[in-house]
Amino acid sequence: MPGFKYDKSRIIRAYPHSSRRSAGFLSFMAEQSSSLVEFKQVTFAYPGAKGDRVILKDISLSVPRGKVTALMGASGGGKTTVLRLIGGQQKATSGDVLFDAQNVGGLGQTELYAARRRMGMLFQFGALFTDLSVFDNVAFPLREHTRLGPELIRDIVLMKLDAVGLRGARELMPSEISGGMARRVALARAIVLDPELIMYDEPFAGLDPISLGTAAQLIRQLNDTLGITSIVVSHDLEETFRIADKVIILANGGIAAQGTPDEVRNSKDPLVHQFVNALSEGPVEFHYPGPDAEADYGLLSRGGQSAAPKAQQPLKGGRP
Ligand SMILES: Nc1ncnc2c1ncn2[C@@H]1O[C@H](COP(=O)(O)OP(=O)(O)O)[C@@H](O)[C@H]1O
Ligand SMILES: [Mg+2]
Repeated sequence: MPGFKYDKSRIIRAYPHSSRRSAGFLSFMAEQSSSLVEFKQVTFAYPGAKGDRVILKDISLSVPRGKVTALMGASGGGKTTVLRLIGGQQKATSGDVLFDAQNVGGLGQTELYAARRRMGMLFQFGALFTDLSVFDNVAFPLREHTRLGPELIRDIVLMKLDAVGLRGARELMPSEISGGMARRVALARAIVLDPELIMYDEPFAGLDPISLGTAAQLIRQLNDTLGITSIVVSHDLEETFRIADKVIILANGGIAAQGTPDEVRNSKDPLVHQFVNALSEGPVEFHYPGPDAEADYGLLSRGGQSAAPKAQQPLKGGRP
């Protein structure tokens, strides 16, 4: 690179969160962990009127840098909670949540805000401001969090809109675009501050199959072209397994599996098997615990002979 001069102080300025004084660039890279996010024996409970409700029990997981990691599992299983722990909106009851080797739960407010600036978060419907144009929606975080001038803001916004294929739609209002397009605008807005980590919470919910495929490919593509790390919470097995480098399955408060899509797909673990094959019965119960169906339908008191309906049978592959 002509005119390029190696200057350690510039690198340290570029990575202000790693105040490694002695190290040069190479050793700095070597010291960097290959995981951007790590959970070490994290337990999390929401306080409740009838005592604490433990959502995550002693879970350990890692999210590799530069990769797409899918976080899957049944509804209510704690996936959003995991994202909130990473963003520091919730604190672990015990254990460590590390973001780039910093313990998120132990950060003071200023450090926490600094860490959050390095994360982008995209919730399900990534609600746009309805009274702002597509352009202004994407420009919003830049105007809010930086002192960049209008020309630079324009360039950045157009670049991000281009990345999601919507440069031409900049003047439209949210009411004038489709749901799939709105999702992409929200995505452009989520990446406008150049996050290192982007967390998508159910980005595919409610999308038709074509928009879903487009959204999934876009997540993959942005991850690779921007060199970021992505976490995708999703229920769509097929599309998610297609784009993910790593899959983590949460079940019953623990990690049922983590590995490559193939490793997870081929897992012999009954929980994982149930999940990956979308079986209604297995270690994760379809039926909320209650009295036996026979007792409820009054079969027992009538000597077991009755026309009352039987408990619904599993669709396939029932429990042994
Ligand atoms: N603020 C809260 N207070 C109490 N319980 C909560 C709160 N948020 C979520 N929960 C409960 O925690 C569990 C996990 O929620 P969540 O992380 O949203 O699951 P998921 O995203 O996997 O569907 C659910 O049972 C939910 O009802
Ligand atoms: Mg959720």
